[in-house]
Amino acid sequence: MQFVEANGAKIPAVGLGTWELRGRSCARLVEQALKLGYRHIDTAQAYENEREVGDGLRASRVRRDEVFVTTKVWTTHFAPNDLERSAKDSLTKLRLSEIDLLLLHWPNPHVPLQETLGALAQVKKLGMCRHIGVSNFTVALIEEAVAACPEPLVCDQVEYHPYLDQTKVKDACARQGMALVAYSPVAKGRIKNDRTLAQIGQAHGKTAAQVCLRWLVQQNVAAIPRTSRIERLSENIDIFDFVLSEEEMRQISLMGSAKVRLTDFGFAPKWD
Ligand SMILES: NC(=O)c1ccc[n+]([C@@H]2O[C@H](COP(=O)([O-])OP(=O)(O)OC[C@H]3O[C@@H](n4cnc5c(N)ncnc54)[C@H](OP(=O)(O)O)[C@@H]3O)[C@@H](O)[C@H]2O)c1
Repeated sequence: MQFVEANGAKIPAVGLGTWELRGRSCARLVEQALKLGYRHIDTAQAYENEREVGDGLRASRVRRDEVFVTTKVWTTHFAPNDLERSAKDSLTKLRLSEIDLLLLHWPNPHVPLQETLGALAQVKKLGMCRHIGVSNFTVALIEEAVAACPEPLVCDQVEYHPYLDQTKVKDACARQGMALVAYSPVAKGRIKNDRTLAQIGQAHGKTAAQVCLRWLVQQNVAAIPRTSRIERLSENIDIFDFVLSEEEMRQISLMGSAKVRLTDFGFAPKWD
């Protein structure tokens, strides 16, 4: 497994996304993923599956210190006391003594960012999490957050796949020593039938999804593809035995001008 290093954190370059995975099948997929070599699991309070993620982790029998667990605090818990309570609740559900990475799930303009970040840093100081970061932050918000946070932020988790150029956010993260963690990295499955990706894959004996994920990790980005299918777990992690040429990387990056954003809400910030 390759890692993305960021402000003291070593984030495994591929992780399992768990949004919409629920109940026993979620626990089974997490267990199976870890048995197949995944070392990074992405969950969130809002996914209502932290308990099952914890179950899968224990069932895998992989040592706790080998697994990187990310969870996220929902925006209604950004007032300082609420944030600490929310982190405790995540720990209880996961049945862990420490979260590896705790993120603010979305920006919330109704609570002063400095207060929320102060509380997030305090949760880290109390030993509830090893690292802290943000998600769905724009360039301006990253800069504001870094200036206001008493502890280093290790990542911004944002939507990133070949159909959405994220150069600005990626560069802003790099300037701050932060990693970009790509969510919806296979564009929610849309890359499956992409001609360019499939053609490039043919030359390497790889699928379109594998080319897409390779393109991300080759930029030093971490990716957290989700699948509900056991057979795809192996496919999505089997990307470390080939290298895309500069020309192939460029060809894929050109698709970003399509500006396809798959996750957007009324409460989203004004994207870059
Ligand atoms: N921070 C945030 O606000 C935020 C927002 C969205 C997502 N996330 C995180 O990022 C994770 C991933 O994002 P996502 O779930 O939106 O999208 P995604 O991982 O890009 O796509 C998941 C979809 O792609 C399909 N898929 C997966 N691997 C495939 C492959 N090798 N070939 C073909 N299809 C494949 C899956 O179908 P099957 O199940 O049938 O394989 C599923 O429908 C989430 O689970 C969550 O942990 C975070």
